[in-house]
Amino acid sequence: MARRKKIYEGKAKILYEGPEPGTIVQYFKDDATAFNAEKKDVIEGKGVLNNRLSEFFMTGLTSVGVPTHFLKRLNMREQLVRSCEIIPLEIIVRNYAAGSMTKRLGVAEGTQLPRPIVEYCYKDDALGDPLVTEEHIAAFGWASQQDMDDIVSLALRVNDFMSGLMYGVGIKLIDFKIEIGRVFEGDFQRLIVADEISPDSCRLWDIETGKKLDKDVFRQDLGSLTDAYTEVATRLGVMPKQPTHDTKPTLIN
Ligand SMILES: Nc1ncnc2c1ncn2[C@@H]1O[C@H](COP(=O)(O)OP(=O)(O)OP(=O)(O)O)[C@@H](O)[C@H]1O
Ligand SMILES: [Mg+2]
Repeated sequence: MARRKKIYEGKAKILYEGPEPGTIVQYFKDDATAFNAEKKDVIEGKGVLNNRLSEFFMTGLTSVGVPTHFLKRLNMREQLVRSCEIIPLEIIVRNYAAGSMTKRLGVAEGTQLPRPIVEYCYKDDALGDPLVTEEHIAAFGWASQQDMDDIVSLALRVNDFMSGLMYGVGIKLIDFKIEIGRVFEGDFQRLIVADEISPDSCRLWDIETGKKLDKDVFRQDLGSLTDAYTEVATRLGVMPKQPTHDTKPTLIN
């Protein structure tokens, strides 16, 4: 059997050439990084959880009409996705102040924002993914005005869907980051949600206790990241109830 071709290895995932043109296999690693990879660790089971959770969120988005790259889950750690041209921006939607916003603007963590705020960061690890404005995006040609209208609309639809889904299981969606890609269909291009949606890319707080159930558990050394992600997956019905600490994540088909 021929060895499949590795296209890219990032901090959290590996991309392989897919079985058909226009497809890619995303392999979810157990590696966790924070602060632009200054803090690193291997968290056993994280990749399995994120693969399953990203599948769950992307499938849900598809069912409410938000286009995504997700095609199908292949196994515990891999999913087949549509290959796309990633727009070099991280699209961040914030409902409550947290993370860099608290430092930048001096707003207390957890403050409810008057409306969802959409921010853009230029995807460049060497520069530390700096915050940019629509002026930069237009001037440097990273996305057109039409793209930006579509991006904001997609981001807010993802926010509504994810906020509602999380609220239903007692979790507040504080903020999240998505990546968007272009796919070409004949003469037309379409924007779709790509990369991943998981507790690595969202901030999730328990509504009752304020307990953090996302990557801040790793960033701030608040305990077991696998336990936090398993809790999210269990509440959403993606994992069996009452997981024990000494068992590895189990998938429900
Ligand atoms: N459908 C897709 N088609 C092509 N590339 C994709 C797709 N979905 C995600 N990607 C890209 O695959 C990579 C996923 O790897 P990973 O998340 O580990 O990267 P990363 O270390 O965060 O680095 P980067 O700064 O490139 O995002 C990212 O570069 C992401 O932009
Ligand atoms: Mg990434």
